[in-house]
Amino acid sequence: MHTGAFAFDTASGLSCDGVPLADIAASAGTPTFVYSAEAIRGAWRRFDAAFGAVPHAVHYALKANSTLGVLRLLRGLGSGADVNSGGELEVALRAGFRPDQVVFTGVGKTPEELDRAVSLGLKAINAESPGELERIDALARARGARARVAVRLNPDIDAGAHPHISTGRRVNKFGVPIELGRELYRQMARMPGLQPVGVHVHIGSQITDVAPLRRTAEAVAEFVGWLGEDGIAIEHVDLGGGLGVSYDGAAAPTPAEYAAAVLPAVAPTGCTILLEPGRAIVAPAAVLLARVIDVKRFFDAHAFVVLDAGMTELIRPALYGAYHRISAVAPRAGAVAACEVVGPLCESSDVVGKNRRLPPLEVGDLVAVHDTGAYGSAMASTYNRRPLPCEVMVDGGRWEVIKRRQTVEEMVGLER
Ligand SMILES: Cc1ncc(COP(=O)(O)O)c(C=O)c1O
Repeated sequence: MHTGAFAFDTASGLSCDGVPLADIAASAGTPTFVYSAEAIRGAWRRFDAAFGAVPHAVHYALKANSTLGVLRLLRGLGSGADVNSGGELEVALRAGFRPDQVVFTGVGKTPEELDRAVSLGLKAINAESPGELERIDALARARGARARVAVRLNPDIDAGAHPHISTGRRVNKFGVPIELGRELYRQMARMPGLQPVGVHVHIGSQITDVAPLRRTAEAVAEFVGWLGEDGIAIEHVDLGGGLGVSYDGAAAPTPAEYAAAVLPAVAPTGCTILLEPGRAIVAPAAVLLARVIDVKRFFDAHAFVVLDAGMTELIRPALYGAYHRISAVAPRAGAVAACEVVGPLCESSDVVGKNRRLPPLEVGDLVAVHDTGAYGSAMASTYNRRPLPCEVMVDGGRWEVIKRRQTVEEMVGLER
């Protein structure tokens, strides 16, 4: 029924790399994210291989999913890390990434975060503004150090993604307008605490048309040419993340197609190409395993199928109107019927899937919400005092809990 790690057979229902999801639910409970280690490995290696012909480094973007078990797996493959906050930086270090494997992006970095980044000597701090460059310079000089920096350029290119996850337009808060960047790099030559090592862009997420990514690469390559004219040599071009995945079965560009779109522009710069994929690495590698806790049908309207998972575990449908496939783990015989799959929270936006056609579902049945490895657990909250969910990794026919379910004691542990 579904391709990849999650396969269906009539005897054991939906399984992850041969492990029945029903077995995991029986032991770990629900809601639980179930990851396929093999799917994560495969996605990372495809990405890496797509750029194999040129010097490059894949810096997995922690914001998509920063559960330690996921990070350790990726680090073991040779991945670097892209972090977006002081918290993600510490988590990356804890997962074993060395500071020289970490790039730090973030539209607002606190003095403490910047000082920590400078003290560690990260591979690059992707600076967002002239003011931030001055602050990094001062912090580095105070330490007698030179911070490796890149400026995040805003190329004013529409990624064609949902407005909430488009970041490369002038109207967005991210980066420095590309036409102002040249002067900024000239000024950096007069800032002894800074070592300009790269340029950075990231125009958005869930981008399913490579054309804006190609135009961005061309704009960046032209910019690197200007730097060359100014006698500024940099080591790397960081193209950010953003490659979309197929949530609904429609075609999405492969890493190879992405590489083919951007490399003709950026490879001739001679710079190492840095990439910051998040979603493309982990989204398809997980399902959110949930149980039906109520079925409500009134009059002739479609049924509401209420799950024990909702916007606290997976906020994307509520936040972006995002679509995720939903399937019964062990489909019952009977006609498929229209339903709305919802979470248990006190919000009308707490919908997991609108207008679905699913086989009959009864209280106690298990469902899988697909392609939830990215921006699922990473965006989870305890709204309505719901404990953070369990997370499980399946690898080589075995599975283990990589994050146990939060207890109420832990939830209130910070309070007095
Ligand atoms: C700077 C930066 N890099 C990388 C990413 C990862 O993006 P994606 O998960 O779409 O690959 C993001 C997310 O928006 C980001 O803001």
